[in-house]
Amino acid sequence: ILQPVILCGGSGSRLWPLSREQYPKQLLKLTGEHTMLQATALRLNGMALGAGDRLATPLLVGNDEYRFLIAEQLRQVGIPHAPLVLEPCGRNTAPALSLAALAAQAGGEDPVMLVMPADHVILDENAFRQAVAKAAQLAETGKLVTFGIEPNAPETGYGYIRLGELEGDIRLVQQFVEKPDQATAEQYLASGQYLWNGGIFAIKASTWLSKMEQCRPDIAAACLKAFEGRQQDNDFLRPDKAAFAACPSDSIDYAVMERLAGLERNTGEVAVVPLAAKWSDVGAWSALWEIGAHDADGNVLMGDVLALDTSDTLVVGDSRLIACIGLKDVVVVETPDALLVADRKQIQKVKDIVGRLKADS
Ligand code: GDD
Ligand code: MG
Repeated sequence: ILQPVILCGGSGSRLWPLSREQYPKQLLKLTGEHTMLQATALRLNGMALGAGDRLATPLLVGNDEYRFLIAEQLRQVGIPHAPLVLEPCGRNTAPALSLAALAAQAGGEDPVMLVMPADHVILDENAFRQAVAKAAQLAETGKLVTFGIEPNAPETGYGYIRLGELEGDIRLVQQFVEKPDQATAEQYLASGQYLWNGGIFAIKASTWLSKMEQCRPDIAAACLKAFEGRQQDNDFLRPDKAAFAACPSDSIDYAVMERLAGLERNTGEVAVVPLAAKWSDVGAWSALWEIGAHDADGNVLMGDVLALDTSDTLVVGDSRLIACIGLKDVVVVETPDALLVADRKQIQKVKDIVGRLKADS
């Protein structure tokens, strides 16, 4: 059994003003007719699996606050799903995945989980499915499988995977480094020996739970307690609130990947499957600019937009007609209650705006 697990609890403040705490980026239509969550859920549809294998209905883990939005978005595209696992508060991805693993095992099976962030764009779905098929086989043997992306910039927001030796045709990970500093990222990029961690994982439920017990017994115990105290109906699975609130916060990458393939020791348990599927994390407006469809003047125009003598400009309209004249290298993002107008070359400073807004509120 291949069990898709979709993590949809993050917020994404670098896409302000479109993504907010109340409306995170995975629930937005940024790149096409579907929201990123919908696109994630649809991505595996119709995937051919090996003989005897089947694709389970997706298991989603997200914040209680977004439950109706999530359920409604899945309903719109006709995707059935297991009861939504609802976190009463955010504790990052390691606890979220632990809850998913416990829920996945509750049916008495021990599936391979395909862990997918709900906020990525993957344009080449065929390449993605091929990589998934390979990763699922590896995960069946007890490996923790990462998906490696060819890096093209010294991004500090990603995990870096140093390619290790081959075990048969399995590429082991020699070192996993989460979010290195700028100088280190530059050195990794220049060395040509690292891939970015795509944030997608294939892991057997039992493997994940035992690695958590080994690496972070405190988180493992808190999640087990929260899961055992759960309330569940057909639509929602709610872990015990107090027990989950007491769980320490940590990510999959720091809690497990770095520890199993860290500097000091490498256990040979982490493998990587290359993923060349036009992947983007869409972490910021610059990423949307890169993957968006450019018109003949180099503009990416989304929504109801009329542009005259305008070039190399990104316009994202949400609620009204936007007309531009004579712009070059500008970003315009419009929502009902906030408008962003920026120099495209300085767009990463959106995070400073968000910081100012948070400080003022
Ligand atoms: N359910 C749940 N609960 N989901 C969460 C939570 C949480 O508390 N926190 C984050 N998520 C979801 C996010 O919505 C996103 O889909 C995914 O988990 C990854 O979390 P991010 O917070 O976006 O992680 P990141 O981007 O900093 O880093 C990860 O992804 C990179 C690639 O995009 C790491 O895996 C990096 O190593 C990787 O390079
Ligand atoms: Mg991310």
